[in-house]
Amino acid sequence: MVSRYIINGRKKLSGEVEVQGSKNSSLPILAATLLTKGENVLFNCPRLSDIEAAFGILRYLGCEAKLQNGAALVNCGNLRKYDIPDAFMREMRGSIVFLGALLSRCGKALLTFPGGCELGPRPIDLHLKALRAMGATITERYGIIECSAADGLIGAPIALSFPSVGATENIILAAALAKGTTTITNAAREPEVSDLCDYLNSCGADIHGAGEGTIVINGVSSLSAVSHTIIPDRIVAATLMSAAAVTGSEIYLEGISKTHLGAVISVFDEAGCESVCREGCMRFKAPERLRAVSLIRTMPYPGFPTDAQAPVMSASAVSEGSTVFVENIFENRFKHVGELCRLGAEINVEGKVAVVKGVDRLYGARIEAQDLRGAAGLLVAALAAEGESELSGINYLERGYESFEQTLASLGADVVKI
Ligand code: EPZ
Repeated sequence: MVSRYIINGRKKLSGEVEVQGSKNSSLPILAATLLTKGENVLFNCPRLSDIEAAFGILRYLGCEAKLQNGAALVNCGNLRKYDIPDAFMREMRGSIVFLGALLSRCGKALLTFPGGCELGPRPIDLHLKALRAMGATITERYGIIECSAADGLIGAPIALSFPSVGATENIILAAALAKGTTTITNAAREPEVSDLCDYLNSCGADIHGAGEGTIVINGVSSLSAVSHTIIPDRIVAATLMSAAAVTGSEIYLEGISKTHLGAVISVFDEAGCESVCREGCMRFKAPERLRAVSLIRTMPYPGFPTDAQAPVMSASAVSEGSTVFVENIFENRFKHVGELCRLGAEINVEGKVAVVKGVDRLYGARIEAQDLRGAAGLLVAALAAEGESELSGINYLERGYESFEQTLASLGADVVKI
């Protein structure tokens, strides 16, 4: 059944909410459980359709995987298969992170290219090149990727030409149980990569340098299952900050990491907001009218995250002055712009640049999301719009935001799911 949100905008938000666990940490850690023996307990694992998709893959492979009281329970003792059917691969692009783990655990892996391309081309050449350097034989034919490493994977020096998050994670997964040492230079420094390394190290892996540009992985002979707490979702936190910013509100966010939000906090500071962080909590207060921020460039971490571009753009749509966004990570990540304009935003896009001229007011309209973060951005804009908006395409939102209408309603927003 197709669901929609009905949003009556211009309600002030107030109160306190707990930020959910990170989707983009949970996915590679769920893949990493394939390397372990025994039952893993992953606390703070969010209830999302993308997590269900990862559970689907694990169960297909023969593992036990379920979500119970906010924790994922995963036991991969009975792994029976080494292939991932196309239907699973198409369901979620993040599924490619199972490749390194499966190849390491089984010595072979058979899967298809992850589906669609909602954000523009998303090649996996860096993943495959690194695995080949580690001794894997890989053939790519008719969209099918067949990998084998009959004698096991061997540690190697890997220099990434771009600090790809997924490639860094796949290499770490392949290297944790490989023979010898793997050194990744120009590695992704995202907190989700560090969370994966923290999880693997507590299982018995020997990984150094996570969060830095060079990661060294000394292969070990086995890994045991553990309990681990997934880090808070920095993009959900940034979306809630955008929701408060666009409505001139003051809210409290519990369970955040100030460091992970550095570049987002600095943008909102410039827009006139106040963020006070203490012991994993943030008080966030926005002025009645935001000031425009001159330039926002998406960059690999610790730069401004591409995943926060859409929600922050909605805040800039009602700021005083103009903001220039430069999207440097994905080619096609301005799909929300046309729908924002339906609400009355004034935005011009030229290639990877969007120029947002702040308007005094947005007005409710029927809008449709076409990707996950675009959906979050449209929801944020509808919170600021006068009158009623109807947002469809919320299946995208539900890939990354757990019961978000309830979270917003608990802060005083008028959002209902129908
Ligand atoms: C991860 O995607 C996240 N997904 C994305 O979040 C996030 O936007 C992205 O990192 C950047 O932060 C997950 O963690 C599941 P990349 P990933 O490899 O790993 C190019 C969300 O909304 N590239 O760092 O796919 C690629 O085309 C999602 O939650 C190659 O050219 O990102 C892109 O332009 C969307 N060849 C750039 O690098 C490769 O082999 C960054 O991609 C790999 C990547």
